This record gives sequence, structure tokens and C-alpha cells, in this order.
Amino acid sequence: RPRVFSGIQPTADSFHLGNYLGAVRQWVGMQDEHDAFYCVVDLHAITMGHDPAKLRERSLRSAAQLLAAGLDPERCTLFVQSHVAEHTQLAWILGCLTGFGEAGRMTQFKDKTQKQGVEGATVGLFTYPVLMAADILLYQTDAVPVGEDQRQHLELSRDLAQRFNARFGKTFRVPEPFILADTAKIYDLQDPTAKMSKSSSSPNGIIDLLDDPKTSAKRIRSAVTDSGREITFDRENKPGVSNLLTILSALTGRPVPELVDAYAGKGYGDLKRDVADAVVEFVTPFRERTLALLEDPESLDNILARGAERARTVAAETLREVEDRLGFVVAK
Ligand code: TYM
Repeated sequence: RPRVFSGIQPTADSFHLGNYLGAVRQWVGMQDEHDAFYCVVDLHAITMGHDPAKLRERSLRSAAQLLAAGLDPERCTLFVQSHVAEHTQLAWILGCLTGFGEAGRMTQFKDKTQKQGVEGATVGLFTYPVLMAADILLYQTDAVPVGEDQRQHLELSRDLAQRFNARFGKTFRVPEPFILADTAKIYDLQDPTAKMSKSSSSPNGIIDLLDDPKTSAKRIRSAVTDSGREITFDRENKPGVSNLLTILSALTGRPVPELVDAYAGKGYGDLKRDVADAVVEFVTPFRERTLALLEDPESLDNILARGAERARTVAAETLREVEDRLGFVVAK
């Protein structure tokens, strides 16, 4: 079975709808046909400064949310990044293959340091994409289900795999991005030209999956829509309406053109009401399942321990080969 790897940062109390539709939903769908590894990337979560108690809490909440979304520990490997030391080990090695300028061209680093400048940024934030490449390459990954914002990082992972293979002999599989065009970028409800993001300027622009469903419904109803009154899919001229149609289509399984036909002669209010209903229908049981899983931290710990054990066996094998290719003396 082809290998899949993906990760999510435990940097918020709740996943948002963009995380789910852009990535996690695909993770769930890929469990059966693939040998899937899914990771709560706590090492990435310390690149911008953090609160230790919150990190621990959010890492467990992340795992619980992934299970609530439908990951099944019998059908995939779910683990916490820091439990598998090989991630940091391979990151060092790949860092020695990454050009300084190459890392400096990563747009996410540029975006995150735009306001304060690079002086205040950590080296960890700078080498973040190298650690991400290590995550992916350790598992000889074929496909990486992510949202559009991770595309450039994936390109770097591919380049590093090819570079290593060319210099030291074929060692890594070269991973392919798995980015679903329809849901690759879910937009902010208040600013539908920006992506929905944890660091959004207005909380009203995002749907947090663990929020009170009533709050989420209200946020959908007060989403910014566009001038005119017709419901059409037009990202350029009607970004707000198009975003709502994308969300409704993803949650109901009804294709966008079919929805557009169904809303002929109806208004934005009708669309918003239906999107709000669909969101509430999804988040209500999701939230209940997550909270129930968090009631039983011991089971959660067990799942993560088993996941780490399986991940370690695969990661250790790749790292052993890498070290051999690099000419490291075998430790006796
Ligand atoms: P993170 O934690 O920011 O986001 C997790 C996943 O959610 C996707 N996503 C979105 N998709 C659509 N619309 C949006 N508005 C939206 N916002 C977020 C992201 O693309 C991502 O797939 N660097 C990664 C974590 C990571 C990783 C990896 C991913 C670390 N190592 C290895 C894949 C493979 C990140 O920060 O994702």
C-alpha cells in the first residue's frame, strides 16, 4: 500500500474548518487504501514561542480531534512528533543539504517575519520547512495530503529527497503533494480574500470546530458576502459567496453547480442559513466525540504510545540507511 504522511500543529485550542476541509478530511479518507502516518507536530509548535502547559494540553486535544474526525488507530498510525527522535536527527542532516538562500525563499517564513522583521525570529522558524521535509522523508512517503499553503514546503521536501538521492545514492522516495483543488484553501469569513487561519485578525472570520455550535452558526450568518444578490460561483468577483458554496458543497457532498442551480431565485440569507445548518450538523457530534475522548486521557496516551512505536520502527530504518550513505561510522 502506498504510504501517506501528514502533520498538524498543536498551536490552537481547536482545529478550524480550513484544517478540516483542507487536510484532515482527506487523512480520514486515505486510511484504508494507504499505509498512513499522521502526526501532531509539537516540535514545529515551539518555533514561535509558546506556553508549556498549553502545548501539552493542545497536543492531546489535537490527537483527540483527529480521532473524533474519524482517524482509527487500527487503520492508521497516529503519533506525536517529539516521541520519535529520528525527526530531529534527520532534520539536522537535511539542514546540511539545504541552501541558506533556498530556505530564505520560503514564503511562510517571509510572511511570519514580515511585521517584526527577521531579527526577532528564531533559527527554528527559519529551518521549519527542513524539519517538515524530515517528517515526510523518514516514512518513504508517496503522498502528502495538505492544504494549498503547504505546497512550497512540499516542493522543498521533494528537492531535498532528489538532492540526497543524487549525491549519495537512491535512499528516499520523492513525495507527491495531495491537494484537493476544491477545498485547498478555505477563506476567512470576514475577509474572503485571505485564508482562514489561526492568526486571523478577527475571531469572527474563523469556524473553530470545538466552539459552541451556536457561535459557529452566528459567524456563518454574519459572513461577509458580496455586492449583488445572485448566488453564483465566482472566486474573483464573489469571493464570499464562493467560499460559502465551497463549504456547503464539501459538507453535504453536493457539487457546487448543483447548489448554484438550487439557489436560483433565492438570496444570500437562504444560502447562509443552509451553510450554518450544515456546519452545526458537523460540529455538534465532532465536539461531543472530542470531549468524550479527552475524558479518558489514559486511552489517548496508549494510542499515541502505540503509534510512536510503529512510527519509530519505520523512521529508524530510514535513518540507519541515511547514516550509512553519509559515511557515518556504525556505532558498535
Ligand atoms: P497547520 O497546522 O498550519 O495546518 C494543518 C493542515 O491544515 C491545512 N490548512 C488549510 N487548508 C485549507 N484552507 C485553509 N484555510 C487552511 N488552513 C490550514 C494546512 O495546509 C495543513 O495541511 N507545516 C504544517 C504541519 C506539518 C506537516 C508536516 C504537514 C509539519 N510537518 C509534514 C505535512 C507533512 C502546518 O503548519 O500545518
